[in-house]
Amino acid sequence: MKRLVVLLTVTCMLVFGMAMMASSGDMPSTDAGEFWTYITQTNPYQKWGKWPGYPGIYPGKSPHGAYLKLFANAPALKALKEGKPMPEGAIVIKENYGKDQKTLMAITPMYKVNGYNLEGGDWFWGKYGKDGTIMASGKPKGCIKCHAVKKDSDWLFTEPK
Ligand code: HEC
Repeated sequence: MKRLVVLLTVTCMLVFGMAMMASSGDMPSTDAGEFWTYITQTNPYQKWGKWPGYPGIYPGKSPHGAYLKLFANAPALKALKEGKPMPEGAIVIKENYGKDQKTLMAITPMYKVNGYNLEGGDWFWGKYGKDGTIMASGKPKGCIKCHAVKKDSDWLFTEPK
């Protein structure tokens, strides 16, 4: 009996430890290359949930793609569903498609890092080609200037629905 208790305790600790490691501590830095590896290999964004109310491909506005898909990681989804501000570690990723709805033109993520850049909503902004080519990253003036009109909604245009 004693042995069973010890075994159970050890198993619990192992499972708990692994859950802790999976849930935190493995967030990427704001290095554009490291971030790309994270969203495509460590924690592939295509397996994340979709933005509430936008389950599939939908028409976008200029300057983004003619059609868009919008993904959010677990912390971002939780905040969206609860109507709370985006927490540290939240990632929102938009795929930008051409008019044929098939050609992936660019991938534009936003990644919340507290203290990173208050003048840009503390978001790390990125623009990548589908092969990971970095087209913009960090604190691009273009992204920030346009999204600044949405300062009051965490620099986000799309509202969950
Ligand atoms: C001229 C304005 C403008 C610029 C520049 C711009 N965006 Fe956007 N962005 C928008 C609009 C408008 C939307 C809403 C979706 C749509 O209809 O296209 C949007 C949506 C997004 C979204 C989905 C979340 C949301 O806010 O709705 C992400 C992520 C995003 N943009 C990232 C970027 C990044 C990264 C850059 C720079 C590389 C950038 N944007 C530059 C206007 C802009």
